[in-house]
Amino acid sequence: MTKPNSQRSKPTISIIGAGRLGTALAIALSSKGYPIRAVAARRPSHARNAISLSRLPSTTLALGADQLEQLPPSDLILITTPDDVIAGIAETFAKLGRSPRQRSIFLHTSGALSSAVLAPLAKRGFHTGSLHPLVSVSDPRAGAEALRGAFYCVEGDSVAVRSAKGIVRDLDGNAFTIKPESKALYHASAVMASPHVVALFDLASEMLMSCGLQAKEAQQVLTPLVQSTVNNLKQTSPEKALTGTFARGDVATVKRHLKALSPKQLAEALKIYKLLGLHSLQLAAQRGLDPKLAIQIKNALKK
Ligand SMILES: NC(=O)c1ccc[n+]([C@@H]2O[C@H](COP(=O)([O-])OP(=O)(O)OC[C@H]3O[C@@H](n4cnc5c(N)ncnc54)[C@H](OP(=O)(O)O)[C@@H]3O)[C@@H](O)[C@H]2O)c1
Repeated sequence: MTKPNSQRSKPTISIIGAGRLGTALAIALSSKGYPIRAVAARRPSHARNAISLSRLPSTTLALGADQLEQLPPSDLILITTPDDVIAGIAETFAKLGRSPRQRSIFLHTSGALSSAVLAPLAKRGFHTGSLHPLVSVSDPRAGAEALRGAFYCVEGDSVAVRSAKGIVRDLDGNAFTIKPESKALYHASAVMASPHVVALFDLASEMLMSCGLQAKEAQQVLTPLVQSTVNNLKQTSPEKALTGTFARGDVATVKRHLKALSPKQLAEALKIYKLLGLHSLQLAAQRGLDPKLAIQIKNALKK
């Protein structure tokens, strides 16, 4: 009888990249019984920090970027470096070659790049793929929590995908696949939904600071508003989740907003308000906004 995934012995792992995601994965995977053999970073001291933060055994090797040839044999090598250095790391490992008994799998965690960036390794007979968690990791410990139950975009050759899906299952997550050529667009979507939301939040805070609030107060009062919006989005479609001025078609209020945003120092906020306002209007139209009101708002936004 085949053992369920949780009871099978876990593949040994080495992690190249000891930053936010690499350390969060080290914490999350070691807690699920994955033996982490080595952690590498540009600076060996950063690899050592990640090992200590993840409470990995003292036998875990800490390596620098110029010591990758010392990497111990591992079933799975996770590349969690910035996107721009992944190709170089693939070249380095491809040059190091492989012994006939070592059939390692390489997975990188970039959202924008596909497994094609690991082509030099695929040519050498390694299995290659990508495993991108759709979560924002700014702190390794909180990130390790966020990785549990997250959605993961997975692609690559069949062996690499199977291995990536095993990790996702062990982290109680959900895996989905897209075409490798769609990864840049997929990642641009993720940027819209996370870092751009942070940028939008920052603009909204600046607007409140123009009303006299301190930066901290602005963040404090706006956070529950964002949270309630996210809660709505968890339960319903964007057009139903849309509330406020555009959903109601309050023409006079839109005009008041535009006037309030007219000072020079708010020019960036005005531009973004108008652009997103046009999209909100489309959503409002889908939920039945009176077309006459929609035209009046559109004209005001396009002035
Ligand atoms: N953070 C997220 O929310 C998140 C979410 C999903 C996917 N990702 C993806 O995960 C990857 C890493 O992102 P991150 O935010 O964790 O980056 P990060 O915090 O900047 O960490 C990058 C790590 O890579 C190491 N590094 C850089 N060049 C290296 C080299 N040539 N050899 C070995 N190690 C090297 C750095 O070493 P030093 O510490 O010595 O500088 C650092 O430890 C990216 O592909 C990103 O797209 C991130």
